[in-house]
Amino acid sequence: MKPNIWACLLTLLLLWFFSTLAWGAEVDQGQKLYLQYCSSCHGIDGRGNGTVAPYLKLKVPDLSLLKKNHKGIYPLSDVMTAIDGSRAVRAHGDRQMPVWGEQFRKEAEKEKYTELTSLLKAKVIAEYVATLQR
Ligand code: HEC
Repeated sequence: MKPNIWACLLTLLLLWFFSTLAWGAEVDQGQKLYLQYCSSCHGIDGRGNGTVAPYLKLKVPDLSLLKKNHKGIYPLSDVMTAIDGSRAVRAHGDRQMPVWGEQFRKEAEKEKYTELTSLLKAKVIAEYVATLQR
């Protein structure tokens, strides 16, 4: 039997369609989490002009310049560790940013994979921050 090229194409098209849907949902999720946890300081566009920013001792970094400041490569894992807080963002420990990892782990306490869930949350947010680069 001749392979049915149309069936193959249709399958590919459907696969493509659903993968973009899934990806879109993940970006939406990242945006939702970013607006919930980060925008108050870093601003809706990530440029460090959130409503809380003027009241902090430290200047809130512009997250839309992370890629530019890292030789054109977005530092995904650095952003994830900055969110998680397991690595001090500032050497002298004068951290103004909340340690989100602790919070995420607390929120996911009842989940089966607490550690993984909070890590994925940081990843989804970090991937959303990647879309704010200019
Ligand atoms: C209470 C205000 C506040 C909130 C909320 C906040 N941040 Fe921050 N963030 C800061 C400040 C201030 C710094 C500068 C370093 C420090 O104080 O720890 C910083 C540093 C960072 C850095 C390191 C930037 C660099 O140049 O190395 C990243 C990445 C970051 N924040 C991402 C996030 C993300 C993502 C969220 C949401 C999950 C978030 N922040 C929530 C205030 C905040």
